[in-house]
Amino acid sequence: MSNAMWGGRFASGPDAIMEEINASIDFDKRLAVQDIRGSQAHAAMLGATGIVSGPDAAAIGAGLTQVAGEIEANTFTFRRDLEDIHMNVESRLAALIGPVAGRLHTARSRNDQVALDFRLWVRDTVDGLDAGLRDLQGALAEKALAHTDAVMPGFTHLQSAQPVTLGHHLLAYVEMIGRDRGRLRDARARMNECPLGAAALAGTSFPIDRHQVAAALGFEGPTRNSLDTVADRDFVLEVLAAASICAIHLSRFAEEIVLWATPQFGFAALSDKFSTGSSIMPQKRNPDAAELVRGKAGRIVGALTGLLIVMKGLPLAYSKDMQEDKEGTFDALDALALCVAATAGMVRDLKPDLARMEQAAGSGFATATDLADWLVRVLGLPFREAHHVTGRIVAAAAERSTTLEALPLDAMQAIEPGITAAVFSVLGVRNSVASRTSFGGTAPANVRAQATSWLERLAAEAPSA
Ligand code: ARG
Repeated sequence: MSNAMWGGRFASGPDAIMEEINASIDFDKRLAVQDIRGSQAHAAMLGATGIVSGPDAAAIGAGLTQVAGEIEANTFTFRRDLEDIHMNVESRLAALIGPVAGRLHTARSRNDQVALDFRLWVRDTVDGLDAGLRDLQGALAEKALAHTDAVMPGFTHLQSAQPVTLGHHLLAYVEMIGRDRGRLRDARARMNECPLGAAALAGTSFPIDRHQVAAALGFEGPTRNSLDTVADRDFVLEVLAAASICAIHLSRFAEEIVLWATPQFGFAALSDKFSTGSSIMPQKRNPDAAELVRGKAGRIVGALTGLLIVMKGLPLAYSKDMQEDKEGTFDALDALALCVAATAGMVRDLKPDLARMEQAAGSGFATATDLADWLVRVLGLPFREAHHVTGRIVAAAAERSTTLEALPLDAMQAIEPGITAAVFSVLGVRNSVASRTSFGGTAPANVRAQATSWLERLAAEAPSA
């Protein structure tokens, strides 16, 4: 049997393998809510403009509401032979209200329909992600406020560099996520134009009101070029790019949790809620959630790469290649939402070992820069010379297997006679962090101010849509 929706010029139905490669219903049924929302707005506009009679438009609207109810109640039967969500919904509508259902597709094509449905879905998903990211920022900022003066090693090259505060470290991620949210917001604003009315590719001869449909669906207005409208998927690419950057940020934090939770670092522990055991090694406590947040970044970046390659070189306007836009996007944005929630859970669960962090903060001569700065400030040495002198003092401490703080004054004076006992005031890790008061620095007072300001900003945000 040929297809009921487009089979007019076809004598027979598709080969089984044709149906299999062609059908998208197995995944695009996820667009059902958006598909019906779009059709409702379209039907109302067809009625308002007189393209379809008032009673017909009303019958279509009521029928669509019924279809939506069936989908919500899980009583709707999705059919592969009907290819995709658009034809599944329309076919069911026809079964419910009869031939008048055939008027719904006036001045519309599946090309602008799918562009609309997917845009609505991506927009809804971005709003959900924003709420999740905001919650994660809140969790991090709360934890930061609780640990404004907890000292830990700051690293470069994963070598102890200078002491920092745990609160400062956590707030670094609040900043990253703030930018991630900004990128998603920008993408949302750019995508917020309504595709419906572009029809197949050239627009339509019917006197449609695209502004009405756009307003009904919460868009800023209609898109301006029908070819671009049905061919564009950069609204998805942009969100996947923002999602990829966000996933990379989360993967970096996840990696730090993995490191911190090792017995070797011992900086922090996850409770039983966020740890798993080994089936063979009874002593193990594995940070699987953190590892999975780190790992899922792979599929998120993969979805971006995949869709970039699908779109590359496609001539205008619509090609069926573009049906490949959905599965990777669904998968990637689901994965990101899960990673965001799991990260927030871990942040709230994470119990830092403050004594251990502070002890580690002093290892590796982490206050060497403080010593060099002291030589500049108090003895008036040029920084380059102070750096050299400090290097020799570090070497002397290393030779005696001791710390800078525990190195006797005469050993330092043997290298730089001007050094006095006052130097010891800068060699402790607490003094070191307390002195980093430059704007954006790690001093507890700065961290308290930043954490408080973030918590205020988050509280003041209007609840996300
Ligand atoms: N299932 C299709 C997609 O996802 C809908 C658009 C089909 N358009 C067409 N001309 N065959 O892209």
